[in-house]
Amino acid sequence: MYLLVSIFFTSLALTPLLLKTIYPYFWKDAVYFVDLLRILLKYILRRRRTPLFMVLDRFLEQSVAHPDRAFILFENENYSYRDTDRRSNKIANALQKHCSGLRAGDTVALFMGNEPAFIFTWLALAKRGCAVAFLNHNIRSRSLLHCFNCCGAKVLIAAAELQEAVKEVLPSLREQGVCVYVMAKQCDSPGMMAFSDLLEDAPDTPRPLSDRSGVTFRSPAVYIYTSGTTGLPKAAVVNQNRLLTALAVLDSTGVTPGDVIYLNLPLYHTAGFLVGLIGSIETGSTVVLRRKFSASQFWDDCRKYNVTVIQYIGEIMRYLCNTPKRDDDKDHQVRLAIGNGVRAEIWKEFLDRFGNIQVREFYASTEGNVGFVNYTGKIGAIGRVNFLHRTLFPYVLIKYNTERDEPIRDTSGLCVESPRGETGLLVSKITDIAPFVGYAKNSQQTEKKKLRDVLRKGDVYFNSGDLMKIDHDNFIYFQDRVGDTFRWKGENVATTEVTDTLTLIDFVQEANVYGVQVPGNEGRIGMAAITVKEGQHFDGTKTFSHVASNLPAYARPRFIRIQNAVEVTSTFKQMKMKLVEEGFDPACVTDPLYILQDREQSYMLLTGQVYSSIVSGNFKL
Ligand SMILES: *[C@@H]1O[C@H](CO)[C@@H](O)[C@H](O)[C@H]1NC(C)=O
Ligand SMILES: *[C@@H]1O[C@H](CO)[C@@H](O)[C@H](O)[C@H]1NC(C)=O
Repeated sequence: MYLLVSIFFTSLALTPLLLKTIYPYFWKDAVYFVDLLRILLKYILRRRRTPLFMVLDRFLEQSVAHPDRAFILFENENYSYRDTDRRSNKIANALQKHCSGLRAGDTVALFMGNEPAFIFTWLALAKRGCAVAFLNHNIRSRSLLHCFNCCGAKVLIAAAELQEAVKEVLPSLREQGVCVYVMAKQCDSPGMMAFSDLLEDAPDTPRPLSDRSGVTFRSPAVYIYTSGTTGLPKAAVVNQNRLLTALAVLDSTGVTPGDVIYLNLPLYHTAGFLVGLIGSIETGSTVVLRRKFSASQFWDDCRKYNVTVIQYIGEIMRYLCNTPKRDDDKDHQVRLAIGNGVRAEIWKEFLDRFGNIQVREFYASTEGNVGFVNYTGKIGAIGRVNFLHRTLFPYVLIKYNTERDEPIRDTSGLCVESPRGETGLLVSKITDIAPFVGYAKNSQQTEKKKLRDVLRKGDVYFNSGDLMKIDHDNFIYFQDRVGDTFRWKGENVATTEVTDTLTLIDFVQEANVYGVQVPGNEGRIGMAAITVKEGQHFDGTKTFSHVASNLPAYARPRFIRIQNAVEVTSTFKQMKMKLVEEGFDPACVTDPLYILQDREQSYMLLTGQVYSSIVSGNFKL
């Protein structure tokens, strides 16, 4: 490290003019370099503290430093840092008194949408030394049980409005002896306990430190579910160390204590929780929490709460640009937008319309061990190769065979680095600084994300599943995701989960699920090619009700194509590429095509007329 620093400062002495001509990004690279050093130093000093210093301690530090500063603004409610601390104490004390089976080190599943209680409960459980699994509040029945079971939780805490969804899986939960609490005053189902009254009576005094004395940096802090390339969602383990590193994200993009951060992405996902919420705790900022994203409310909220920082995922920008123009479009205090996945055209349109907002595009994944920041502001690039960054996180792009869905290997069995300017698979070496913790109770999936013998025999890399390109000027560009996941409305859809759901319908023989592009829309919408069992026929209404009760809206296949046989490759993988290319145009596809019609609660025949209204944007998807 000393060598690095001295090289760095020696190079600072070189004449700036010379640098500007031979190395035009020198200053931006240098600033980034210094910032990385600063963050690294802060992290190292924290890791050395005794007793151990966790994210919860950072929150407590902030509540002592400025107890009266607003932390959460939500609808008409307003909670300061002190209020938040006390509310979470109440929950922690109530759990201690009434849920005697709950011990430090246990996992609790939280089934709740974006609301202040989500944050209070997470903090309360951190104070009790427990890990928290964030269940997506859109999932139901089979998926809900699957997600609950894969984190090994003993307790489920659900929002009042999700009682019905919990009831559906209650028999199975009771069989396993799970304690179920609902954040409501009353609850009529046996086996579920109303939590609100228990809370009222609980004291708001802090829990003793001994409650979490067993927690180490390797202890799971939260579980975040990701729809990877295969199967049902997997619970990525975010341990205490990982959570501590997440503190740096907003701090490194220039967010300050005075900022007001607009948080409308789901808290059960990485962007909302790790970046938005954890990031705000580090900077001690104010969070404006919203139940969910609304394009029409977005700027009114920004004006009402004096929001200065917004978060986005690619689609959000487009939704905002699609709203009707208003005179006060530029009348707001937003100065910074942080997120990922925006297309260059949309970004330009966004700036023209909403004024001069700085964008910080970054690349990261929930479980991955490398990330990039668009620190130079180069349009289209997600980041830049930086010496220090690459030393700390040794990553490489390798040649990939998309047809066979595997990396290309040379005669000695090693992977081949992609030349500059060519697309390759991003893999990043698994080290102590860049660990890969993996998925809960799923060693098979964890193993699948590891790639061995990459550059040397015996080395192990994390397989990001993302195809990227590095150009001759060292800029990194995101190209595509490999394999079986596609994105729709900002959510990853795992085709295998949809396939599994469809094949449970009694008349479905086989199903092949993929995403198709629709002009004017970001991402891909779900489509399924199915075969029907002999002597049976396709029933649109039955398919709709099965799909609607088992899959969240974004994962439901919008189009269904009835085939006589599902085509497979020589390795018995389903042929998708051809289907994807053929799309859903009834003029090109001779097989019968159906479209999910929400109003009719059924799949209806897709006519040429409906097809044209989709393509022209009149039919809302
Ligand atoms: C927003 O800023 C204005 C002007 O600085 C101030 O009057 C108003 O009270 C602020 N609103 C909130 C919610 O902080
Ligand atoms: C990088 O940032 C610049 C401005 O800061 C922005 O114009 C550009 O679109 C960003 N890159 C990407 C991939 O969006």
